Amino acid sequence: MVAEFDDVAEWTADAVEQLGPAYAVPAACRGSANPAALTWLAEVCGLGPGTTLLDVGAGVGGPSAWAAERFGVRPVLLEPMPAACRAAARLFGLPVLTADGARIPLRAESVDAAWCIGVLDTVRDKAAVLGEIHRVLRPGGSLGLLVVVAQGRQLLPPPEGNRFPTRRELTRLLTAAGFRTAGHLDRPGGPPPSWRRRAERVEALVAARHQSDPALALAARQAERFTRLFTAGQIAIRLVHAVRRPCASPRDDAR
Ligand SMILES: C[S@@+](CC[C@H](N)C(=O)[O-])C[C@H]1O[C@@H](n2cnc3c(N)ncnc32)[C@H](O)[C@@H]1O
Repeated sequence: MVAEFDDVAEWTADAVEQLGPAYAVPAACRGSANPAALTWLAEVCGLGPGTTLLDVGAGVGGPSAWAAERFGVRPVLLEPMPAACRAAARLFGLPVLTADGARIPLRAESVDAAWCIGVLDTVRDKAAVLGEIHRVLRPGGSLGLLVVVAQGRQLLPPPEGNRFPTRRELTRLLTAAGFRTAGHLDRPGGPPPSWRRRAERVEALVAARHQSDPALALAARQAERFTRLFTAGQIAIRLVHAVRRPCASPRDDAR
């Protein structure tokens, strides 16, 4: 995952700087989000000018940059991979915390909304990350998720480090962390051709520049495994709108 999320992140920022700013957001949305999915998430989360949006597992920051531009939010990015953090800061100039989602360095109830886009399947302790998001969200605040979910039995090998929850497991995890699931959308539409073309152009430039680097081969193998699982119908994308319930116990308030 270091190859996929750290090395490639830095190379992506280099390629965008060469091609121009119009390539930045499509290339920096690395969790399968696109304008249709992001619009759904922004609308259900009630994002607007001045909303503080914590983006957990922000990667190179494409979704947050898009939300800042389209909805006027004030994003704070949180991402554990240092090169991805640097790439996000370079491309978008947004504030970035280099940290694990299971230990968010923010005060309780300090953010209006949170996003977690294409992240949960890459996280071993999903309950810990959701618990931390619950702690830092204000009561009644919205969490928007894009989750790659397992459908039925999985026979093909997953990308290394990925563990896909079923839809039922996801709902259970959210409930246990103190969220109410307010809505969901399965199979959001794909990106428009112009968006896809820009992302592909950046990928091609990265591939041309780093073709002999083993990290690129590793990242490509991860992507291939994803594609095979999607094509076989063994995984799918679900968007979820969850709302933070008040703390379940006084112990939660004290953290
Ligand atoms: C598929 S990428 C998605 C990035 C970004 N959300 C997007 O949509 O472009 C998954 C991201 O989750 C991050 N991640 C993995 N484990 C994490 C954790 N424990 N806490 C926070 N982020 C994590 C990875 O470093 C990676 O940047």
